[in-house]
Amino acid sequence: MDTQNTALLKDLLSTRRSVRTFSEEPLSLAVLETFLYAGQGCTSTDGRRTAPSAHALHPLVLRVVVRQVEGLAPGVYTYDSLAGKLSLIADLTEDGLLNSAALGDEKWLEDAPVVIAIVAERALAIDHFAAQQADGLRGARYVDFEAGAAAQNMYLAVTAAGLGGVVVMGFDDIKMKEALRLERPFFPVALFCVGHPLK
Ligand SMILES: Cc1cc2nc3c(=O)[nH]c(=O)nc-3n(C[C@H](O)[C@H](O)[C@H](O)COP(=O)(O)O)c2cc1C
Repeated sequence: MDTQNTALLKDLLSTRRSVRTFSEEPLSLAVLETFLYAGQGCTSTDGRRTAPSAHALHPLVLRVVVRQVEGLAPGVYTYDSLAGKLSLIADLTEDGLLNSAALGDEKWLEDAPVVIAIVAERALAIDHFAAQQADGLRGARYVDFEAGAAAQNMYLAVTAAGLGGVVVMGFDDIKMKEALRLERPFFPVALFCVGHPLK
């Protein structure tokens, strides 16, 4: 057993907390890429990723709302896991749109310099696992489980970087789908707000 690694992991696990207040300091692109890699980075030539996926189906995609990142124009980006690259897909969503899709008043959706949305091609998983359970619930459950693994990976990466973040799942699915400009097969599963904690 590698006691040094185990101690480091234990330290990260014990200091991880949800952070909802952020300073105005921008994120560096390199640090943001670390978080995206933690969430859905590709780790093998056959497309395996940092988070596990049932049947290695990988129905998750990271969609990134960039407000303040050094070296990256504000906008809505998609993360290509295989290439490890961000591509701009839309202008920045207007102020207040993410929070207006939330079930409560979640100011951190607006204040965070970056919001990483874990989105899923849910129908792909539902169809794929329908043979195991015809009502489709198994595929849907697997998607949510995989998003949880991706979110925890990002929580730990953010903690390791000395930054803060919080997962948000209390939102109206349809409104959030529109706010994130998601095209047809994709649905939002969880959002992860990240930034420098306000001291
Ligand atoms: C499934 C799930 C959904 C959550 N949804 C929200 C949310 O909508 N808004 C929010 O501010 N926090 C949300 N959280 C964060 C929790 O409130 C937080 O994890 C909890 O208060 C425990 O605090 P900790 O993360 O610092 O340990 C969610 C967490 C989980 C696991």
